[in-house]
Amino acid sequence: MVERVDAADTRWAAVDALVAPIVAESAAQRAVLCANAAAGLPDIDVSPAQGKLLALIARVSGAARVLEVGTLGGYSTLWLAQAGAHVTTLELDPHHARIAEENTARHGLSERVKVIVGAAAETLATLAGPFDLVFIDADKQGNVDYVREAIRLSRPGTVIIVDNVVREGLVLDAASPDPRVQGTRALYDYVAREPRLSATVIQTVGLKKWDGFLLAVVD
Ligand code: SAH
Ligand code: DHB
Ligand code: MG
Repeated sequence: MVERVDAADTRWAAVDALVAPIVAESAAQRAVLCANAAAGLPDIDVSPAQGKLLALIARVSGAARVLEVGTLGGYSTLWLAQAGAHVTTLELDPHHARIAEENTARHGLSERVKVIVGAAAETLATLAGPFDLVFIDADKQGNVDYVREAIRLSRPGTVIIVDNVVREGLVLDAASPDPRVQGTRALYDYVAREPRLSATVIQTVGLKKWDGFLLAVVD
């Protein structure tokens, strides 16, 4: 059993609030979260600080073409698009995709964002690369396949980021019946053995509690 660490949550979120002026989320981005809540979407977007991290990685890597797997209402999409990239984003749920399209249109970013509806395992197969950065944030069971596809759609130097790879330490439980945990553990094994990837895991705390990103570059 993994010990819970909820007692620390209020401080983690408070520090995210303290650094909000550095992160400088735009009014447009705040509005996306309101629109998502109004449309009944789950509150599982990246946090502002995490969205800014994605935008900064896009900028420092000079990413012009970004692929996202798992759109939800387009909050992370908006961070990546505002960093200057063209974003192709894949979403299973047509309702989520429609809200994301409305959000990007409302903020004048339709030209830079293409939402493709369908199961990522199928829609990824229709794409041609190379993409400069791939952000994977959909069903966790699919992560090994999505990273494999990201490599197919890459060039040397492509950055691959996978969200939710720590999940409050649930990933420690090798016997977990949760397919998301097993998907993440399978991802760890796959990435450790894939010679074309150089990777690390960045554990994070904040508004989204204790979680983490896998960050990799294609050699
Ligand atoms: N990246 C978003 C959050 C994505 S939440 C953000 O940070 O703002 C995960 C999304 O993946 C959900 O919208 C869910 O519908 C979608 N999803 C789940 N399974 C999927 C699949 N097989 N193919 C594509 N999208 C999927
Ligand atoms: C879940 C999915 C996410 O992408 C996330 O960031 C948090 C939670 C989920 O499926 O519960
Ligand atoms: Mg996520």
